Amino acid sequence: MNRAPARARDAFTSRLGVILATLGSAVGLGNIWKFPYLTGDNGGAAFLVVYLLATLAVGLPVMIAELVIGRRARADAVSSFERLAPPGGGAWRYVGVAGVCSAVFLLAFYSEVVGWVFAYLFESLRGAALSSDPAANAARFTALAHDPVAALGWQWAALAWAAGIIVCGVARGIEAVTKRLMPLLFLLLAGLAVHALTLPGAGRGLAFLLQPDFSRIGPAVVLTALGLAFFKLSLGIGAMITYGSYFRADQDIPLTATRVMLADLTVSLLAGIAIFPAVFSFGFAPASGPALVFMTMPAVFSQLPAGGVLLAVFFALIAIAATGAMLSILEVPVAWLVERHGWGRARATVAATLVIALFGAPAALSQGVGAAFTLAGRSVFELYDFLTSQLLMPLTGIAIALFVGRTWSAAALAAELGQGGGARRAALVGPLRVLLRWVAPLLIAVVLLHGWWGG
Ligand code: PHE
Repeated sequence: MNRAPARARDAFTSRLGVILATLGSAVGLGNIWKFPYLTGDNGGAAFLVVYLLATLAVGLPVMIAELVIGRRARADAVSSFERLAPPGGGAWRYVGVAGVCSAVFLLAFYSEVVGWVFAYLFESLRGAALSSDPAANAARFTALAHDPVAALGWQWAALAWAAGIIVCGVARGIEAVTKRLMPLLFLLLAGLAVHALTLPGAGRGLAFLLQPDFSRIGPAVVLTALGLAFFKLSLGIGAMITYGSYFRADQDIPLTATRVMLADLTVSLLAGIAIFPAVFSFGFAPASGPALVFMTMPAVFSQLPAGGVLLAVFFALIAIAATGAMLSILEVPVAWLVERHGWGRARATVAATLVIALFGAPAALSQGVGAAFTLAGRSVFELYDFLTSQLLMPLTGIAIALFVGRTWSAAALAAELGQGGGARRAALVGPLRVLLRWVAPLLIAVVLLHGWWGG
């Protein structure tokens, strides 16, 4: 077996680069098709309060745990556990292995959705006719998702795009691209949001998104918020461990994590402001997921002046958001192959991408030709979603919280938190350890069990 040559590790080069790459990971499909709709449907501003509490109790602590693991070990997700595990703790490496596996399965179906986004972006740039009828748009979407050649082709295009950036490395690939794309994303999003606010009916859209309704808040909503906080911050697949390993030594991790969380929240809210006023302005019903993105929004835009341009902007925005997320997912197996197995970066990227494409194909085909194949009532797409979001990611998250909370000394944690943040950060050690030892694992476990039995 060949060993990794002893050369300097690739890493992020600037503090802003670190923040934008990490934010690029957090911002993704979740901001556009999960967050705004869930917020609107679950109590508006009241849901936001619950989401923030969930983030403080689970999201931020686990994110900080992942980042400090990576930066302390300076290695990929699996090697990080091998380097940092206490004596006799060889089994911790399987937490990293689970992360690599969930990254593969997550990207296997995430890339399919990104493929649809790419297809729509291409179509809207070509000026394809918009229909104001959601049913016609539904038919168009089905035609794409059910056509094996189109579904596979666009999925591969999405994967090839991510792989092409990953091959260039951490500083010259991930950092360089996210540094350019994230400001563009904010610009496009702010433009769309301001435009949406000028539409008649904007008030009703905003009310849908923000009007607090505390009567909606029940156990199910709290669990939804917890799951969302976890997914939004890209936790449970080792992506933040891998990115943390590229952080500068003087990067203030708690501050960076908090900033990323707030900026991600801002993107989600702006997305909601860009979407719902327009939806309500034309009397459409807000929908969730693919229906909103691929059926409702084209119909909404078709009614607006310059709707074709706005639609292209809308899909460009989602494509940009999804790119940063894909990069962080793909980097997990690539870093593992490069560092743990000594592969060259190009070979590792090609191999990881091919394996993901292989697993991704049944997911892409599961909408059309493969629809008949189901397991326990789930299509391959749903199976992957279940396997990652409901199983591997939460379990990995619990293990990560316990690893830092229970096997690290307070001094080790204080040393990592203090870097770049000064001695004041030591005050965070106590509360953070309580969250990592008890609060986060228990809350994630409850969400997990609810996902299994509660539906
Ligand atoms: N945070 C990303 C989103 O909102 C998804 C993601 C999850 C990315 C896990 C990386 C790791 O879409």
